[in-house]
Amino acid sequence: MRTTASKVVVVGSITADLTAFGRRLPVPGETVIGQSFTLVLGGKGANQALAAARAGARSTMIGCIGDDLFRDIVLSGLRDGGVDTSSVTSVHGPTGVAHIRVDNTSGQNDIVIVPLANSSLTPDLAERKLRAVARRGDVLMLQLEIPLETAFRAAIVGHELGMTVILDPAPAAILPDEIWPCIDVVTPNESEATVLTGIKVCHVESAAEVGRWFLERGVRAALITLGDKGIVQVNEAGVQSRSTPKVDVLDTTAAGDAFAGNLGAGLANGRTWDESVTRGIYAGALAVTAAGASTSLPTADDVDAFIKSQNDDRKDMSCAKTQAR
Ligand code: RIB
Repeated sequence: MRTTASKVVVVGSITADLTAFGRRLPVPGETVIGQSFTLVLGGKGANQALAAARAGARSTMIGCIGDDLFRDIVLSGLRDGGVDTSSVTSVHGPTGVAHIRVDNTSGQNDIVIVPLANSSLTPDLAERKLRAVARRGDVLMLQLEIPLETAFRAAIVGHELGMTVILDPAPAAILPDEIWPCIDVVTPNESEATVLTGIKVCHVESAAEVGRWFLERGVRAALITLGDKGIVQVNEAGVQSRSTPKVDVLDTTAAGDAFAGNLGAGLANGRTWDESVTRGIYAGALAVTAAGASTSLPTADDVDAFIKSQNDDRKDMSCAKTQAR
């Protein structure tokens, strides 16, 4: 029953995403004419909370928003998506913003995030809110768009409370060594992994080396995401390379958030590790087929249908091979 399941608690950023979509990104100093524009809920923290809720988990957001025009946009984005916002704090001043540009041809983006109200999420505030809502067995999800000392404190407190702590170290930042024993799962992409460990990630072997770097420092599992090259998983069972389904890329924004949110939701809802990782991979792949960040996050039904369609395709292919023999 839903009421007995563990929940996902996100301590993280909440932003208004102002996104311009164009045929290509401008080079420095250049102006290009765009094709469309959106203003929606974003921020890696909020996206992951929403992704977990859409994946069927109870999801609670701990973060800070301002008292400006963007406040209602982000708050209703979270609430309408089923996220518990009772631990979101309103502060005086502007809500955080992310200025995003998407290249409609390649699906690639660049982002400038201005934390604004997110800077008010102090270690003490986060700890107080976390202790008020968290229970042993809940999943804590962290990213690095809030003050680093807040993410660090939340990791320590979450670990002490017996939560499963998942860190998506984005955007990349150097972290103190003391954080790693508090982290159960770390999910860097190639460039984040390189910044954190100093190891250049360019193939499965170097990703495996990065994974072992995290495990030696106390992390229980590392999932290094390599975009369309798949994921390298390193845990006590060893190194496993997993492929991602092939899709038509429209916009890569929030693919990592879809992955993390579905992984966290799976673990909170009692799915196995393998199932949870698989659902994260499929959710991430689905997210790149839709435009925007929070707007691209799939539901549990979307993920179920996608997994089924890929399995059906595989069965069809193996039948075709058998018949051809
Ligand atoms: O991960 C995607 C998010 O990163 C966007 O929603 C934007 O807010 C940036 O923080």
